[in-house]
Amino acid sequence: MTVVADESLRTDTSPAPDKRLSRRQFLRRAAMCGLLPFSTAAYATEIEPFWLHSHDVEIPIANLPAEFDGFRILHVTDLHAGPIVPIGYLERAIERVNAIDADLVLVTGDLVTHDMDWVQPICSLLAKINKRTYVSLGNHDYSELSPVLGQPFVASAIEQALMLTHCTLLRNSAASIERNDKRLWIVGLEDYYTPLYKPAEAFASFKADGPMIVMSHNPDTIDDLTPYHPALVMSGHTHGGQVRLPFIGAPILPIQTNYDQGLFDVKGTQLFVSRGVGYLKRIRLNCRPELPRLILKRA
Ligand SMILES: [Fe+2]
Repeated sequence: MTVVADESLRTDTSPAPDKRLSRRQFLRRAAMCGLLPFSTAAYATEIEPFWLHSHDVEIPIANLPAEFDGFRILHVTDLHAGPIVPIGYLERAIERVNAIDADLVLVTGDLVTHDMDWVQPICSLLAKINKRTYVSLGNHDYSELSPVLGQPFVASAIEQALMLTHCTLLRNSAASIERNDKRLWIVGLEDYYTPLYKPAEAFASFKADGPMIVMSHNPDTIDDLTPYHPALVMSGHTHGGQVRLPFIGAPILPIQTNYDQGLFDVKGTQLFVSRGVGYLKRIRLNCRPELPRLILKRA
């Protein structure tokens, strides 16, 4: 069938718009396309690494005493004080911590990046936190000479420095918080990559007569921990991958499991993995640093 255009139906007699680009438009668009990689790089290195995200995450906990329903824990991790992360940024992060209402602050490791020179500055900064604070160590908080073997030179310096503050460092040990004779237990583990990591020792050091919250820097530890039935495990270490791509997620992660960021239910234990505050390489893309506030709720 042949279709013949009926010119009598055409009411708009103006000439069809010229859809070709003018030279000026072409040059402008080419310049924008050319600048895109540079503007993305500038954003990923100058803006997002310092764009802290504060947000609430509700954590359902079975058998949570009513006294702790709504208990708020501010999760701080992976500060990485050192020559790469500006101390001014970390000072602003601690100011943010102090401005957020919470019942407790838990710092889950990587205070420094193996660097003894930064132990005192970061511990002095943690001393400014205006809330009850417990700290555990991460893989970068041990000796710069042999972090994998866990030589504890830096860790010992952190321990000594924190003893002069209100912050309590938990090394395979536990502390409790009491409300009306009900207890919430906070357990701090040594880092998974060190021979000091001994969860059995930590869980044997107290009698768990209430829900347990475990600070364990590396989320790969979760399978070691679920047999002890903690209510919640709080980790960092991954930094969320620092760069996350659409449909792919983080191309590079320092873990064997898939627990890269956020909240997971692992055999009835809640695992929260924070993207952290600092970084190793100064780049973050689709992976903002964060200060999550975990709110415990009766399940
Ligand atoms: Fe880290």
